[in-house]
Amino acid sequence: MQVGKDIQQAQQLLDQGEVVGIPTETVYGLAANALNPNAVSKIFEAKDRPSFNPLIIHLASIDQIGDYVEEIPPLLVPLLHHFCPGPLTFLLKKKANIPDIVTAGSPLVAIRIPRHPTVQALLKQINYPLAAPSANPFGYISPVSAQHVFDQLQHKVPYVLDGGMCQVGIESTIVGEENGSLVVYRLGGITIEQLQALTESEVKLANKSKKSPQTSGMLKHHYSPKKELLFFEGAIDPNEIKDNDCLLLFGKKNREIAIERQFSLSTNEDLKEATSKLFPLLHQLDGSTYTRILAQALPEIGLGRAINDRLKRASSNF
Ligand code: TXA
Ligand code: MG
Repeated sequence: MQVGKDIQQAQQLLDQGEVVGIPTETVYGLAANALNPNAVSKIFEAKDRPSFNPLIIHLASIDQIGDYVEEIPPLLVPLLHHFCPGPLTFLLKKKANIPDIVTAGSPLVAIRIPRHPTVQALLKQINYPLAAPSANPFGYISPVSAQHVFDQLQHKVPYVLDGGMCQVGIESTIVGEENGSLVVYRLGGITIEQLQALTESEVKLANKSKKSPQTSGMLKHHYSPKKELLFFEGAIDPNEIKDNDCLLLFGKKNREIAIERQFSLSTNEDLKEATSKLFPLLHQLDGSTYTRILAQALPEIGLGRAINDRLKRASSNF
């Protein structure tokens, strides 16, 4: 794999039906021409991703959505105009030009307009949408730097476009409309509070047992490090800590525990900072010599909910 900043080279590879790592403001994606089923199949191969798991398509601007979807429910229109480009994905009724492999046979397609300048520049130059899941092997921690993509997929992908560290640091929030209500299928970079402020409807969290679209972000085990991760809802009991464990915290470190094995997502309890540090720290700790990661829950507000969601799914005790 080559890592670089050459948008032309990325475009050439994509035009030829190859897959390319791309930066976005949420996490790095593994992109291919969404209208070319053979190119899309290479994404599934490189990630070892089950074929029943559909992909998000990425567009340069809101104006292009009508080319690929039948309709946009009126409830979603204010959200589209307020948050796009940005970390919000919409589940919408697809047109026939979106191949079945992209949606895993579903009549709905997930659409996102990323705001990262590098991927915006790339999307403006090509005349097809990019299908792109996060650029990690299926189930593993999402990549938030070109180096993470290189470390995980170097033998499987020819090129990754380096756009620096992802600023948001967790995946997009996925929303849709069901029976007149706004439904959130995956918590992410846009909070429930932000959505609620823009809609009269009650914002509902998709219920796993219901017959609504299932997203892999809803799978019980996902975003997992190779090491064991334990999730604690209250304070971590010092008696639970074994010699070679490390701690992933929010806020100040605990003076009764060795400082060097405590890692805080944000010492001054800033949820935005914590979000952008979550995956870098998980990658770092997974590559360290510590045996287990003991992670402390964040407050269940704003981005804290999305972080807790990732930590629970990464853990073996939840
Ligand atoms: O921030 C993001 O959304 C990143 C960047 C690269 O854009 N992408 C991302 O993709 O997180 P991925 O594939 O790792 O997660 C997309 C989620 C999956 O859980 C998938 O099941 C769900 O979106 N999804 C995609 N298309 C869907 C569809 N048609 N119906 C239901 N769920 C869908
Ligand atoms: Mg993913």
